Amino acid sequence: MVMRSTLFFSLAILFFFFFRIAQCGIEDRGSTLQILHVDSKLTPKSPLISWERSVIQMQSKDNARLRYLAPIASGRSITQNPTYIVRAKMGTPAQTLLMALDTSNDAALVPCAGCVGCSSSSTFDPSLSSSFKPLACGAPQCSQVPNPSCGGTTCGYSTTYGNSVVSATLAQDNITLATDSVLAYTFSCIRNSTGTSLPAQGLLGLGRGPLSLVTQSSSLYQSVFSYCLPSYKSSNFTGSLRLGPNSQPIRIKTSPLLRNPRRSSLYYVNLTAIRVARTVVNIPPSAFAFNTTTGAGTVFDSGTVFTSLVKPAYTAVRDEFRRKMGNATISTLGGFDTCYNVPVTVPTITFMFSGMNVTLPQDNFLIRSSTGTTSCLAMAAAPDNVNSVLNVIASFQQQNHRVLIDVSNSKLGVAREACS
Ligand SMILES: *[C@@H]1O[C@H](CO)[C@@H](O)[C@H](O)[C@H]1NC(C)=O
Ligand SMILES: *[C@@H]1O[C@H](CO)[C@@H](O)[C@H](O)[C@H]1NC(C)=O
Ligand SMILES: *[C@@H]1O[C@H](CO)[C@@H](O)[C@H](O)[C@H]1NC(C)=O
Ligand SMILES: *[C@@H]1O[C@H](CO)[C@@H](O)[C@H](O)[C@H]1NC(C)=O
Ligand SMILES: *[C@@H]1O[C@H](CO)[C@@H](O)[C@H](O)[C@H]1NC(C)=O
Ligand SMILES: *[C@@H]1O[C@H](CO)[C@@H](O)[C@H](O)[C@H]1NC(C)=O
Ligand SMILES: *[C@@H]1O[C@H](CO)[C@@H](O)[C@H](O)[C@H]1NC(C)=O
Repeated sequence: MVMRSTLFFSLAILFFFFFRIAQCGIEDRGSTLQILHVDSKLTPKSPLISWERSVIQMQSKDNARLRYLAPIASGRSITQNPTYIVRAKMGTPAQTLLMALDTSNDAALVPCAGCVGCSSSSTFDPSLSSSFKPLACGAPQCSQVPNPSCGGTTCGYSTTYGNSVVSATLAQDNITLATDSVLAYTFSCIRNSTGTSLPAQGLLGLGRGPLSLVTQSSSLYQSVFSYCLPSYKSSNFTGSLRLGPNSQPIRIKTSPLLRNPRRSSLYYVNLTAIRVARTVVNIPPSAFAFNTTTGAGTVFDSGTVFTSLVKPAYTAVRDEFRRKMGNATISTLGGFDTCYNVPVTVPTITFMFSGMNVTLPQDNFLIRSSTGTTSCLAMAAAPDNVNSVLNVIASFQQQNHRVLIDVSNSKLGVAREACS
């Protein structure tokens, strides 16, 4: 009897912790932050139509983002639709903010109190922070933002963000991520915003350019970070963002990072081939060639959902995939052209980078309806316009992997990890 109640009690504790973890995710501690998925209810129990609609919605957001990510888009626009958020504290005393992660942007965009048109319920109030400091026009950081306007004495600027136009002033304050503080962190205090693209949360830029968190905290973190994105299927579990060289995976396959001075935020790598099952797909090398002038090449991005390959690469991979599927009957869904309405088992897909082969589990390239009756190859061809030269390894393909970015040693690593 005693034993039984002890067992019951242990199980109760176990369940208590399990559900606490399930609900809250891991706590932010050390230099590790939890990552929450902003709309993780992708695979609803509801009818197929809503699944289809959510897939199509995500694709249309991707198309908008790809326009901005794309190398020869005019202006130094920031991108849109980051999907993952972390908790940060800013100012003295600290104000808690939720910020959307974006590995392809440098700027931190923070909706500030009194912002006209910001949709956020939580804003940062500079007047309540004793360490807040607006930056003057002459500050060197002011020359790093697009179109600075120095009507007053402070550095103001305006930029587009998808269909939004954002006006902000450049300022500094302490930011605390998990338990580490970055003093006098330069960020953009949003004063007004029109349009619908700006995410309600602020934006935390983890790109590699001068104004990004990675660069500004380099003495603390040596420009090293890693993240594990939670699965689209899990609504409660969370991933993690780990800042600095400590507690990073030791055994991890890596590929050299490539630097494009004209696209200074982006993490380029050298994708050299793609394998479907054992077949290395016949793709012209030009589809993968890195070119700093045109911006062509391959980047890792957390804000695009579905991997996008330049047309000849996508077509070749898709055709090989279809062949391996024994020419089963194909349907389409939104921008996906290779869907099956019967349960399928599929070949593996391997991205081959310089020095690193990444073989993806099915969940990283097949999007399935909750009923299991429709599955689509979750990749697409790059938009067929001037912006058609960039391959983007996107978040659907990264979920449940740890992606390590080590700017100091110029490498990017990928390892499987069940982060949600
Ligand atoms: C914030 O930064 C200022 C210097 O800019 C420093 O004096 C202060 O102690 C910092 N506050 C916190 C909470 O770290
Ligand atoms: C937003 O800010 C800009 C620059 O300060 C200004 O020109 C514009 O009128 C503002 N828009 C709104 C809606 O307040
Ligand atoms: C997620 O959490 C909500 C409420 O906290 C709960 O109702 C739901 O069952 C959970 N879902 C999963 C998949 O654990
Ligand atoms: C990418 O890899 C290919 C094949 O190994 C090589 O020919 C090419 O020079 C590499 N490109 C860069 C930019 O390193
Ligand atoms: C990059 O693209 C430009 C324009 O198409 C071309 O002229 C140049 O030769 C390319 N550079 C390399 C290294 O391939
Ligand atoms: C698929 O179709 C192609 C050409 O239509 C044919 O050559 C091939 O044998 C078919 N594969 C299978 C497994 O049926
Ligand atoms: C990647 O796989 C290919 C076989 O398809 C192999 O030849 C190559 O050595 C592998 N590369 C690495 C870095 O393991």
